[in-house]
Amino acid sequence: MNILILGSGGRECAFAWKLAQSPKCSQLFIAPGNAGTSRYGININVGVNDFATIKQVVLANNINMVLVGPEEPLVRGIHDFFLSDEQLKNIPVIGPQQQGAQLEGSKDFSKQFMARHNIPAAKSNTFTRDNLQEGFEYLATIGLPIVLKADGLAAGKGVLICLTLEEAQLELAEMLTNAKFGDASSKVVVEQFLQGIELSVFVLTDGTNYKVLPSAKDYKRIGEGDTGLNTGGMGSVSPVPFADAEFLKKVEDRIIIPTIEGLKSENIPYKGFIFIGLMNCNGDPYMIEYNCRMGDPETESVLPRIKSDLVDLLSGVAEGNLNEKELIISDKIAATVVMVAGGYPGEYLKNKVITGIENVRGSHVFHAGASTHNNEVITTGGRVLAVTSLQDNLFNALQQATADASRIYYDGMYFRKDIGFDLL
Ligand code: AMP
Ligand code: GLY
Repeated sequence: MNILILGSGGRECAFAWKLAQSPKCSQLFIAPGNAGTSRYGININVGVNDFATIKQVVLANNINMVLVGPEEPLVRGIHDFFLSDEQLKNIPVIGPQQQGAQLEGSKDFSKQFMARHNIPAAKSNTFTRDNLQEGFEYLATIGLPIVLKADGLAAGKGVLICLTLEEAQLELAEMLTNAKFGDASSKVVVEQFLQGIELSVFVLTDGTNYKVLPSAKDYKRIGEGDTGLNTGGMGSVSPVPFADAEFLKKVEDRIIIPTIEGLKSENIPYKGFIFIGLMNCNGDPYMIEYNCRMGDPETESVLPRIKSDLVDLLSGVAEGNLNEKELIISDKIAATVVMVAGGYPGEYLKNKVITGIENVRGSHVFHAGASTHNNEVITTGGRVLAVTSLQDNLFNALQQATADASRIYYDGMYFRKDIGFDLL
């Protein structure tokens, strides 16, 4: 089978690495891909939101399945585009249609969905500029800190955690009346702050059957000790030690089953990954958010632990017989250290030559913001590489991934040396 992956990050590099291992994958294409994905397939320089050109690529290369990495094309309706096109409608897309992608595309939609299906989540209310005054009144009732979320996609920047009521009032007004996050903040979800430890659980579903993939924890802040600015993710660990069988049973009963049943009862078709962002509040799981895709850099820790053939699992999603497929998960522990460009997450350095990847001993290097130029690999993005090590215990995995990251060099190179050590 010929498979096309859409995306260009470390997540897509990990998908390419995993899919290329399957005997069922004849040819793999990645659009647009990066320096790493070209080791597993053919990169095609087309953007993920350019549906018309993607159609040409799919037809020209006899693609039999499309796996969508990032959320934006899903929220923009790439799956619906395929279904409504005579030539594409029988080519399966892994990733939900627009309606299901609203679980990520609209925080208001997802909060209402959780409420309709009694899924535990922080108390919240949604406001627009028309009821800003009511919003101000609500802010005073929910306690500090206060979480403000732009309703729409805001490139991961649309969530603000306000420590004072004054700050929350100011920010709510900025979002609603001054379009702080553009259209994305024309609606704002005001939410109670959940105290606890965050983790993510991933589900693969064909809309009826589901498989619970390994749990993971990511590290969002740029600085060690979880300090400084938010990033796309500086590292990840899978599994999460405190997500034991008892906790995961609660997640399945209280969140996963109601989510799948809820989608079905509302006639929302869903074929793809569901990223369940959770807070563990004293042993009880509460929803923070849904994403309609896999996480990055969680994928880089999760996929190396899946022993089963991923093409086979995705075929089960496409054909609606995921229940007949086998999911085998390794007992080993994966740790991923993300190497970023100097300056990231602000204005960052680019086009720096990367050396030393060949010196890595006990890890796998997934490329993210890295391209090949004149036979050299150079940095092109903020998150440059994801270094993953799979070992018998967490300490060894963390130590190996960190040691291997140190063997790689480029001007301005930075990575956190404390990923996962809070879990030991
Ligand atoms: P999101 O864009 O929904 O992933 O939110 C970004 C981050 O904000 C999450 O990963 C959490 O760390 C934090 N966050 C979001 N909602 C809450 C909440 N209700 N309580 C505490 N932290 C939250
Ligand atoms: N690592 C968080 C995300 O992918 O959204």
